[in-house]
Amino acid sequence: MCGIVGYIGRQDALPILIEGLKHLEYRGYDSAGVAILGKDLQIQKSQGHIAALEAKLVQMDGTTGLAHTRWATHGRPSDLNAHPFTDCSGAMAIVHNGIIENFQALKEDLLAKGHTFVSETDTETLVHLFEEHYKGDLAEAVRAGLKKVVGSYAVAVIHRDHPGMLVAARNENPLVVGVSADGEGVMASDVTPLLDFTHEFTFLEDGDLVVLREGEFQLMDLDGEPVERPVHVVDWNLEDAQKGGFEHFMLKEIFEQPQAILDSMMGRIVEEDLTALAPPDVDKIKIIACGTSYHAGLIGKYILESLAGLDTTVEMASEYRYSNLAKESALVVAITQSGETIDTISAVREAKRRGTSTLAITNVVGSTITREADQTIYTRAGPEIGVAATKTFITQLIAIYLLAFALGAKRRTIGAEHLRVLREELRRLPSQVQQVLNNRDLIKGVAEPIHEAHDVYFIGRNINYPSALEGALKLKEISYIHAEGYPAGEMKHGPIALVGEDTPIIAIVVDDPVRPKMLSNIMEVSARDAPVFAVGLEDDVELAKLVDVVIPVPRTNPIFSPVVVLVSLQLLAYFVAHMRKCSIDKPRNLAKSVTVE
Ligand code: AGP
Repeated sequence: MCGIVGYIGRQDALPILIEGLKHLEYRGYDSAGVAILGKDLQIQKSQGHIAALEAKLVQMDGTTGLAHTRWATHGRPSDLNAHPFTDCSGAMAIVHNGIIENFQALKEDLLAKGHTFVSETDTETLVHLFEEHYKGDLAEAVRAGLKKVVGSYAVAVIHRDHPGMLVAARNENPLVVGVSADGEGVMASDVTPLLDFTHEFTFLEDGDLVVLREGEFQLMDLDGEPVERPVHVVDWNLEDAQKGGFEHFMLKEIFEQPQAILDSMMGRIVEEDLTALAPPDVDKIKIIACGTSYHAGLIGKYILESLAGLDTTVEMASEYRYSNLAKESALVVAITQSGETIDTISAVREAKRRGTSTLAITNVVGSTITREADQTIYTRAGPEIGVAATKTFITQLIAIYLLAFALGAKRRTIGAEHLRVLREELRRLPSQVQQVLNNRDLIKGVAEPIHEAHDVYFIGRNINYPSALEGALKLKEISYIHAEGYPAGEMKHGPIALVGEDTPIIAIVVDDPVRPKMLSNIMEVSARDAPVFAVGLEDDVELAKLVDVVIPVPRTNPIFSPVVVLVSLQLLAYFVAHMRKCSIDKPRNLAKSVTVE
């Protein structure tokens, strides 16, 4: 997730674009850059926060320009990988948000035609592609180029020979345009940097291309046919806008999950060979992680064992490094959204000292873990501002599914037909998560009786036992209610002594082989007068009779059920914390990356 700003008007564009980038910094902050069209096309860019760019910026005169703040997906954060990019002639500049899935094939073709590349990014391919198609009409070159592109983009382009003109297009990445009362043409990834200019916006839809000039813009499709989109009046202040109208970043990030899942899968379900990330002789996996990432690892154990037939153990990173193992024989997979958790980094160092290969799963390109581990899979969730991990966690699961598919195919533990079905089911997850999000009001209703509880127990079995652990962790970290996750079968071995009418139980029941056992465990806690709320299938009539309320989730293959279950439990935790008036985005005593042991 990156941020784009564009401006065409009569004012000096540079300070306007830099100010705009500052409002978009929450979308990406590993590098930034700006292109100004004056007498010539000028570009400056820098790794790091916008302040780093500002510190070395020299004045560039011109009243048309583009700017970008980057959240790396292809290529680590660096000056060279920062946007904007130019073509070989230096006449064109582009900025891009999204992922070009077929960039390798396009790049090879362009290299063969004599184009030269300076960065590791997928984005640079676009500017050369547009150059290849440029015959004097910028919009036509962009249209023709984009027809060859597979992937997602919000892309904006300026050209030395077209002063006062900006061409932009969208597919699966947001882009909004507007014109101020003074006729300035503005565009951006979201309305945040544009509120000083106008409150009337037109949001591009997938397949739309816009030609923006001073005082006007034209919308068309990739064939050049005009399209019409409504004008929306957005009456937000800056903070509302950064949160996309959501009250908290956490809620916004929960709602971004269909897109985050899509981005994490893009180009990887079939095309990219993830088996290359694991040594050929791997027969055991050890996952090391902390907190929510540890729970992703526990779910990963079920996934890797059942799909790839790999003996998988999971250890808390803070414990692994002090264990007495002299030699490590398993492939060590370190999961960390931030890539900076010192417990996990130290555990990776220890694993390497014990003589094994290491693979990191992280969301932050270029983070410390990526330099320590032998290989990395990026989760592509985009920046997560809320301290409680939501979209970074769900995309960790996606990375594990993809890894398990690849290893299962290689080890022949998944047959071709089974793999085809699993891939289809994985592709359905974004829309199934959207269905869960559509239940927000119902989930809010369940939060009402829970928000006054002192203790809450989450119970599940098999792959949804770790879902219970994660549901409990989410609730305790943001609502400060004591919550525990238990394997449902374990309640009778002790914890049931604590259960009574004041202890709500959240039971996770999907259509899997342990369902009958879950129903029995629900009856056991109900018999002790506990109110029971279930996360379960909409059409599970038997379950509905046993519990107070069912939070419905769509039917999935049980192996994918933690995704839909946990999005529901994230929302539940959020609404409970909201009712308790807690500091949701910055819970007390917690930090987004934990760099102390
Ligand atoms: C998640 O909601 C928590 N804030 C915390 O448990 C977190 O998962 C843990 O600190 C590990 O962080 P990491 O994924 O960045 O390594």
